[in-house]
Amino acid sequence: MSEFNEQSTTRDVIAGISLAGKLAMVTGASSGLGVETARTLAAAGATVVMCARDSGKLEAAVAEVRAAVPGAQVETLIMDLADLVSVRAAAAEALSRFPSIQLLINNAGVMACPLMRTAQGFEMQFGTNHVGHFLFTCLLAPALQAGAPGRVVNLSSAGHKFANFNFDDPNYREREYEKWQAYGESKTANVLFSVGLDSRLKSHGVRAFAVHPGVIMTGLARHMDEADFATLSERSPKGEALVFKSVEQGAATSVWAATSPDLEEKGGIYLENCKISDSSVQDSSTGVESYALDTSAAERLWTMSEELVEQAFSFDS
Ligand SMILES: NC(=O)c1ccc[n+]([C@@H]2O[C@H](COP(=O)([O-])OP(=O)(O)OC[C@H]3O[C@@H](n4cnc5c(N)ncnc54)[C@H](OP(=O)(O)O)[C@@H]3O)[C@@H](O)[C@H]2O)c1
Repeated sequence: MSEFNEQSTTRDVIAGISLAGKLAMVTGASSGLGVETARTLAAAGATVVMCARDSGKLEAAVAEVRAAVPGAQVETLIMDLADLVSVRAAAAEALSRFPSIQLLINNAGVMACPLMRTAQGFEMQFGTNHVGHFLFTCLLAPALQAGAPGRVVNLSSAGHKFANFNFDDPNYREREYEKWQAYGESKTANVLFSVGLDSRLKSHGVRAFAVHPGVIMTGLARHMDEADFATLSERSPKGEALVFKSVEQGAATSVWAATSPDLEEKGGIYLENCKISDSSVQDSSTGVESYALDTSAAERLWTMSEELVEQAFSFDS
């Protein structure tokens, strides 16, 4: 049972843990939770590969980490998750530079943007949050297998409660776009992907987890206006005001997922507040919906994702 809670910080959950000799990769490391996650893993001794699409923002984030952690071992990788050509190039570069990976934190994300499409025409939230990470992770599987034991952490959200995954029209070709619905579907996909990935990689010593970090004021809110904040408050339990975490509290569950000894022999599960989510406790902001952990839906999403990226993956050695 975890000794931590919703107030625990990255400093609390990493205390006493050494990551010396380990390689950790963090997507979306140019902003918000990704920077704090990278900083914490570097402070614990890991070599951290900070991935982002914008080289200027990434360099600023690297400078922030280096200033906070003298001697930090930091590498960078440029990748635009909204373009599978970029994802394939980044994965190929990563495999040649980092043949052995222990931790992959799929943290990048976009929320509630207007209808936009990725380079391959996927709806932007589904394409960035799920499809890009699906391809990146599957292409990196040989390095994860070589580095085992290891973990993959997929940033989901309590926003998965907004919507089950829509297998009929994942890219909003035939229905009216609704930005929160699309975010919810993409975040449900992140949980289902964790379930499907864990079932494929656990025999290789690599476990996968989905994380809800809490509600944290970061760049993620860039597409939100006043009315959106009101909408989110209405969706919270009893319509209460949103309870915000600090960035250090928000990144704590990702770091706990990646490093906690409490999670050994576990995987394919949803974590929040530095704990395994109790699926029997359900309200509009805590707990995990059963549809997100459904193994047949996870298999269906896996097959659909392989079709979308036009590549099938077998992890048999
Ligand atoms: N903050 C919250 O309250 C909250 C709640 C639940 C879940 N989450 C999840 O936590 C994760 C981290 O979010 P955050 O709060 O730290 O948000 P953030 O500050 O906006 O960081 C998101 C990161 O993702 C990157 N990104 C977006 N689109 C990308 C693309 N096409 N290719 C590569 N990178 C891309 C961003 O890069 P740019 O700066 O270049 O756009 C940024 O580095 C997300 O997955 C989010 O859904 C956050």
